[in-house]
Amino acid sequence: MAQFPYRDRWALVTGASMGIGEAFARALAERGMNLVLCARSADRLQALAADIASAHGVRTHVVAADLGQPGAAADAWARASDGRDIHLLVNNAGFGLHGRFEQLPRDRQGEMIALNCTAVLELAHLALNAMRPRGDGGIINVASIVAYQPVPWMATYAATKAFVLSLSQALAEENRGSGVRILCVSPGPTPSGFQATAGTSVEPSQPGYLEPRAVVDRALAALDGGRTQVTPGAVNRVATVFGRLLPMGLTTSIARRMNEHRGA
Ligand SMILES: NC(=O)c1ccc[n+]([C@@H]2O[C@H](COP(=O)([O-])OP(=O)(O)OC[C@H]3O[C@@H](n4cnc5c(N)ncnc54)[C@H](OP(=O)(O)O)[C@@H]3O)[C@@H](O)[C@H]2O)c1
Repeated sequence: MAQFPYRDRWALVTGASMGIGEAFARALAERGMNLVLCARSADRLQALAADIASAHGVRTHVVAADLGQPGAAADAWARASDGRDIHLLVNNAGFGLHGRFEQLPRDRQGEMIALNCTAVLELAHLALNAMRPRGDGGIINVASIVAYQPVPWMATYAATKAFVLSLSQALAEENRGSGVRILCVSPGPTPSGFQATAGTSVEPSQPGYLEPRAVVDRALAALDGGRTQVTPGAVNRVATVFGRLLPMGLTTSIARRMNEHRGA
């Protein structure tokens, strides 16, 4: 399959203000893509947009939005695509929470579902309705290695990412041969703002550890190759294979032992 056509086209990257989303934005700009950067922190996005535009000579636009709010995804899509054809959607914004299910605030878990699932679904729906008639485009959904099995102490987060993985794989099949590529990326431990929000920690010595830029390089190589899913890092790929092949009760029990003491 031919490399994804990046140059002079527009990408919408959600969660672009830091971490994996910022790495996506910088890597796409290096490939000549114009960028709509979306997250809540308008100031961070404006500074990043100016930096990227001057470093790579691409056009940038900022859409500040809380994608967890009802109607926010549709509004963000409308603002992003006003006067621009979005050719690549990177559905990256998301967060996790670590802790025992009944002890984590119910409303925060609802916000997680709204951002990690509902906003991803709505943006993918809007993007596909624009891209399918053109027979051209791509959607990258960011899941996680926790999508492959239940994860005690991150129960709701893992469930949201299982939703993203399942939705992405079904959409990839529905859109096979349409000209629209659908890719699900499942990162393992990656240093970013994620750990502070989730209440976890990450160390370079941790198995599967990768920097955000390494995650993104592998994701874009997979998009270029026309793949529908990629798990960056050999250790992380092995974890997802075990998650699929071993009995669910066994992998869930192993995950509980690995996670219950992993709080920051
Ligand atoms: N880091 C990891 O170990 C890891 C592993 C597997 C998967 N992932 C996934 O990777 C994706 C990116 O996470 P990250 O690791 O890069 O974390 P991060 O550094 O915390 O970045 C999260 C991004 O999402 C934005 N965001 C958060 N809430 C938002 C909201 N309500 N509306 C709009 N934007 C919002 C944040 O910006 P604002 O605060 O400015 O809104 C930020 O740009 C997530 O989907 C995460 O689940 C991460």
